[in-house]
Amino acid sequence: MKKRLSGLLIAMALLLLLTACGSTGNSDNENSSQQNKESVQAAESKGAYDAGKADDADKNVIVVYFSWSGHLDSMAHWVADETDGDLFRVTAKEDYPEDYNETADRAKSEQDNGVRPEINIDLTQEQMAKYDTVFLGFPVWWYDLPMPMWTFLESYDFSGKIIIPFFSHEGSSNGANALPTVEALANGADFRKDDALSIRGGKVDSSENDVREWVRSLDY
Ligand SMILES: Cc1cc2nc3c(=O)[nH]c(=O)nc-3n(C[C@H](O)[C@H](O)[C@H](O)COP(=O)(O)O)c2cc1C
Repeated sequence: MKKRLSGLLIAMALLLLLTACGSTGNSDNENSSQQNKESVQAAESKGAYDAGKADDADKNVIVVYFSWSGHLDSMAHWVADETDGDLFRVTAKEDYPEDYNETADRAKSEQDNGVRPEINIDLTQEQMAKYDTVFLGFPVWWYDLPMPMWTFLESYDFSGKIIIPFFSHEGSSNGANALPTVEALANGADFRKDDALSIRGGKVDSSENDVREWVRSLDY
């Protein structure tokens, strides 16, 4: 009788031990499957993040601008910084005078006579070919695009590229003829005139946040 009782006790102890082991094993499995799930999710979201980064890296941005009194210079630097784009300034080989009236006269005469002033820009055709988005900055001059930018637009092939304009003015807030001019000259480009950023000259100095937000709103 004593023997049978101790056998029963041993059997119960064994059963308890097995049950305990079984439940520990289970919770380990649950833990590891939970951990797996979390690491898969983390990897997936990291993958999505990396893919997002890759998308951004795929956006090859160039920022090209012309500026006489400095407003576009400021705007273009903010755009380049926000887009991580390469910044190029177009200047006329023959500098415009420092005097406003003299510059206004020369600009008017160039426009009336369809002059394409020679420009300085250190950018080869091959380099230009690798960009897919061009942020184009200019002041409105005589209700149109300054003639050095005509020269620039006629010097490169923009077909298939996205062109996003930003400009400054002292009253021609819709850019007057400047946007239609860009559209005509950048033949074959995807010209995003509806995305254009227009800022009055006198407000440029306090517009850094607006410029940066504009860039972000375009997903760059
Ligand atoms: C030669 C010249 C012509 C201009 N013509 C116009 C114009 O037709 N309409 C306008 O709104 N502003 C006109 N402006 C003002 C400029 O567009 C404005 O001051 C702009 O902010 C200048 O940019 P910047 O400092 O980068 O040169 C003209 C300025 C100059 C120097």
